[in-house]
Amino acid sequence: MKTKKLLSLVLAGTLALSLTACGGSDDAVASIKKKGTITMVTNASFEPFEYKDGDTVIGIDAEIGQAIADDLGVKLEIQDIDFNSCIPSLTSGKADFCAAGMSVTEERKKNVDFTDTYFDASQMILVGSDSTIAGGSDINDKTVGVQQGTTGDTYVTNEDGSNDVKVKEVKRYTKLTDAVSDLTAGRIDAVVGDNFPLKKLQANNPETTKLLDDALTTETYAIAVPKGSNLKDEINSLLKKMQGDGSLEEIFSKYISE
Ligand code: ARG
Repeated sequence: MKTKKLLSLVLAGTLALSLTACGGSDDAVASIKKKGTITMVTNASFEPFEYKDGDTVIGIDAEIGQAIADDLGVKLEIQDIDFNSCIPSLTSGKADFCAAGMSVTEERKKNVDFTDTYFDASQMILVGSDSTIAGGSDINDKTVGVQQGTTGDTYVTNEDGSNDVKVKEVKRYTKLTDAVSDLTAGRIDAVVGDNFPLKKLQANNPETTKLLDDALTTETYAIAVPKGSNLKDEINSLLKKMQGDGSLEEIFSKYISE
């Protein structure tokens, strides 16, 4: 009896230690509440999901982030960083979650956990208004701009040969807006990016650009948290609640007209 009890104590201790070692055992929710602040990372050049109004980050993800902070009764701090740095800042423990119109991918799942998905998206092609590029297969042998580290980058780069794309050159930008500037200046032939942000960018450049109908991929957005973080369950119940009471839909319709 005694040895059994001792053994289970030792086992429990080892388990606790090994969980701490992979960063998963601490009660993230409790420590966020204790700190009184929750840190969200994003890349705010992605209207309507996150963009700047002066110094303030606004958009769909900023509002979801605020709802998460309100739900926990803490202050929201949003850090606007490179999209490529969002996952590293979760794995290093610098941020609590990333809301950045981030698509769920198997590759990313190796490093972070994803909440339930909250939006469907796809990659689309933006070209100059007089371009002869009319669909997905026409970007082959062309110079194509993407936002670095995004699913658009993965699709166009096609490193693993999972699609038929073979472009002449991939130009990687830290912001999609810079890719569109190069497009309108004639320095690149097309931009591949997420459908809703590209729709906004097209609307901002109505004379010089056109958005093609082809949807190149099907993707879903979710919020990323550090592996093992119990914030995931907290956010999932909040998302369910917001889906049920219509507040999520309200946020979407505030930023997306169709
Ligand atoms: N959905 C794409 C991805 O996950 C692009 C996201 C870019 N987000 C941003 N906030 N800039 O790779």
